[in-house]
Amino acid sequence: MLKRIQTLLKQKKVDTEMTVKGWIRTRRDTGAFSFLEVNDGSCLANLQIIADKQLTNYDTEIIKLSAGCSVVITGTLQESPAKGQDVELHAESLEVVGWADPESYPLQKKRHSLEFLRSISHLRPRTNALGAVTRVRSRLSFAVQRFFQERDFVQIHTPIITTSDCEGAGEMFQVRASGEKEDKPFFGLQAGLTVSGQLQAEVYAQALGQVYTFGPTFRAENSNTSRHLAEFWMIEPEMAFCDLDCNMELATDLLKFVLQDALDNCEEDLALFNKFIEKGLVSKLQDVVEKDFVHMTYTAAVNELSKVKEIFEYPVEWGIDLQSEHERYLTEKLYKCPVIVTDYPSSIKPFYMRLSDDGKTVAAMDILVPGIGEIVGGSQREERLDVLSRRMTDAGINLEEYDWYLDLRRYGTVPHAGFGLGFERLVQFATGMSNIREVIPFPRTPGFAPC
Ligand code: 4AD
Ligand code: MG
Repeated sequence: MLKRIQTLLKQKKVDTEMTVKGWIRTRRDTGAFSFLEVNDGSCLANLQIIADKQLTNYDTEIIKLSAGCSVVITGTLQESPAKGQDVELHAESLEVVGWADPESYPLQKKRHSLEFLRSISHLRPRTNALGAVTRVRSRLSFAVQRFFQERDFVQIHTPIITTSDCEGAGEMFQVRASGEKEDKPFFGLQAGLTVSGQLQAEVYAQALGQVYTFGPTFRAENSNTSRHLAEFWMIEPEMAFCDLDCNMELATDLLKFVLQDALDNCEEDLALFNKFIEKGLVSKLQDVVEKDFVHMTYTAAVNELSKVKEIFEYPVEWGIDLQSEHERYLTEKLYKCPVIVTDYPSSIKPFYMRLSDDGKTVAAMDILVPGIGEIVGGSQREERLDVLSRRMTDAGINLEEYDWYLDLRRYGTVPHAGFGLGFERLVQFATGMSNIREVIPFPRTPGFAPC
């Protein structure tokens, strides 16, 4: 409704009779009337209500309104003589739908820390910051769908319960039926929550060409960092007849497209983050949309990092997995823009990545962005049956359990590639929120899963 008012304003349609349903943010009384700030969640801005003393329930109810009360107000929208807002609603009637006891309501007018708000995840969406994050997240989700649908990608709903471990990193949550016997698993095989929809997306890419998944994934990593969740959402496109270059192009286009969409459609919310959360956020996003990303190989990245190795906690040498501090040095200090690192050592990457002719590296690519580090991880997949079987055996994988995956290489195999974009890391980047727990409605981390 309040968002609609902004549209009305642009069309210069004031003096409109309307009903607003929302929650009180503040009340201020003067002799003859009260000013009420009401928000309905559709946008950041509140609507100022003028509630006249003449209203029948003024003394019994209106004068007792406080933050959090829900109300339905009918009145006329008028140009506001005061600074700070263009219009105000002159109430003709005000119905209190639900009270919120000011003695116990945790959201008082003062600014609360994000840490405190995390402890009340059922109430925090009522704040400006978390409301704005939620709208931006929703818009980004829509933009992701638009991007793929406009390019004729087919969405695949890959399973949440799975018997395959895509990343092979042993970070799966196990799924058991209550009363399940050790030797008689419910699904026949030991099952777990998916860490990635990639392997199943590959199945569909080899039938429908260009596909994508967008769903929740789960990792039982015991890392309490500002960039890791135990449950997070991932966008995973997979393309048949595609190599690493076309994969990088798609990832770059996707990032630019969704960030441009947010800049175009979330102006008011982004301005809030730009002011209070990350100064310079909007120009950072504009730069990412407009400028080229840096491309470099892992070997070149290690060479650059070796030049300044003394500043790192983890020593740098060829063969190490890049740590967050290394990734952030490249993207934040050295290039100050997104960096795509390619051709990682095969020893630190999963079995499905395509082995390069040098026998040492794989056709992998990670995209690193300032403030976050890795936001995208992807690769060209190993399409050769013999090489794949060998890599899987070396990784200690039981080939019989992945016979279906090997069938994709037995019948009509094609070069193909894809990547995973961590949706929360994208929302973090777009909002400037430094902790990933702020950008998902109900974060799940080790020791934490309220609601
Ligand atoms: O690099 P990852 O592990 O890649 C895969 O899962 C591939 N199967 C994707 C593919 O090729 N289809 O994860 C992809 C992205 C990371 O770059 C990161 O943005 C995000 O997922 N991510 C996490 N986000 C939040 N919390 C975690 N614990 C995350 N782990 C990965
Ligand atoms: Mg990765």
